[in-house]
Amino acid sequence: MILVTGGAGFIGANFVLDWLALHDEPVINLDKLTYAGNLETLDSLRGDARHRFVQGDIGDTALVAGLLTEHLPRAVVHFAAESHVDRSIHGAEDFIQTNVVGTFRLLEAVRTHWSRLPDTDKAAFRFLHVSTDEVYGSLAPDAPAFTEKHAYEPNSPYSASKAASDHLVRAWHHTHGLPVVTTNCSNNYGPYHFPEKLIPLMIVNALAGKPLPVYGDGMQVRDWLYVKDHCSAIRRVLEAGAVGETYNVGGWNEKPNVEIVRTICALLDELRPRADGASYATQITHVKDRPGHDRRYAIDARKLEADLGWKPVETFETGIRKTVLWYLDHPEWVAHVQSGEYRQWVKAQYGAAAAA
Ligand code: NAD
Ligand code: TYD
Repeated sequence: MILVTGGAGFIGANFVLDWLALHDEPVINLDKLTYAGNLETLDSLRGDARHRFVQGDIGDTALVAGLLTEHLPRAVVHFAAESHVDRSIHGAEDFIQTNVVGTFRLLEAVRTHWSRLPDTDKAAFRFLHVSTDEVYGSLAPDAPAFTEKHAYEPNSPYSASKAASDHLVRAWHHTHGLPVVTTNCSNNYGPYHFPEKLIPLMIVNALAGKPLPVYGDGMQVRDWLYVKDHCSAIRRVLEAGAVGETYNVGGWNEKPNVEIVRTICALLDELRPRADGASYATQITHVKDRPGHDRRYAIDARKLEADLGWKPVETFETGIRKTVLWYLDHPEWVAHVQSGEYRQWVKAQYGAAAAA
């Protein structure tokens, strides 16, 4: 079996659902259920003996050690993190606690367990650390995309905390021999994405008749990957990635934010036209820019393709259509995640009118 951390969040839950759709290998899912974790996403696994959910913190050494001893997983796939840049600007404490201290404690618990395994299990064991392209910082408009050799230049409290966790993972391999692999992926989108991030926020706000808040000039570029393609990359790296290596994961889909928002509006105009016949694009509103906003991210995913034969399946056009359709088909999921905590966040970030 495998131990997944953060498997009630956006990417982790998609990973667990896809994993169990493809394999019978059981999953222990350790998640603290912060505001971003949602058991409703895992509803289809209720009563499924292949999935055991454990609510808890990756920094709880006794809990993690107990799970490792009881279940003897052959791998740990580490998604758990605080993941929203804007929240890290409002307050970075939780980011340091989970992404840095939590990852350190998880590594130590895993190392202690791993060091006692018989030699063959020790050699086969993997710790797969899921990270982000944001650790590389911001690119000039014409600069080549990030390769695995790009210097770490994190600019936000979020990316600095993820960079720190990447360094810890690297050190636990070099110093202690822990068999790690790290993936650094670009921006994901798809089903079960919490509507504080750009794409789900725009879909949800558009349908609610609310403004679509584009930061600054909206010409910041992100490189978008459909979440299921990220999950397939992680499975491939777990299966065949070389120990101690890092792999960049991306979809070759660089787009400025405002273009993403216009694409979402055009899809909604087609699939769920506004009653007054106007385009959802009339709801686009440019708001104050994010402090320290990185201008451009772009991933060079050639190493993953050349070494492990991985390629994304979705284009942005097919992936964004699936995503918009998913949100149209799942209004209850959206309504349930828009809890009191969500409304408080919207008020803090976008003002009282946006939260009404
Ligand atoms: P998310 O915020 O949707 O989910 C994070 C999950 O981790 C939640 O279920 C939360 O309850 C859980 N969690 C938080 N703190 C915890 C703790 N201390 N102990 C146990 N569980 C805890 O995040 P996501 O978008 O699914 O991202 C997953 C991972 O992928 C993160 O490490 C993130 O840095 C990385 N990543 C995300 C993206 C993206 O575009 N979303 C891109 C590249 C990499
Ligand atoms: P986000 O989804 O927060 O991901 P990240 O900051 O990790 O890349 O944001 C994606 C881009 O969209 C980023 O350039 C910030 C921008 N953005 C907006 O313009 N408006 C918004 O309301 C949000 C949440 C993001």
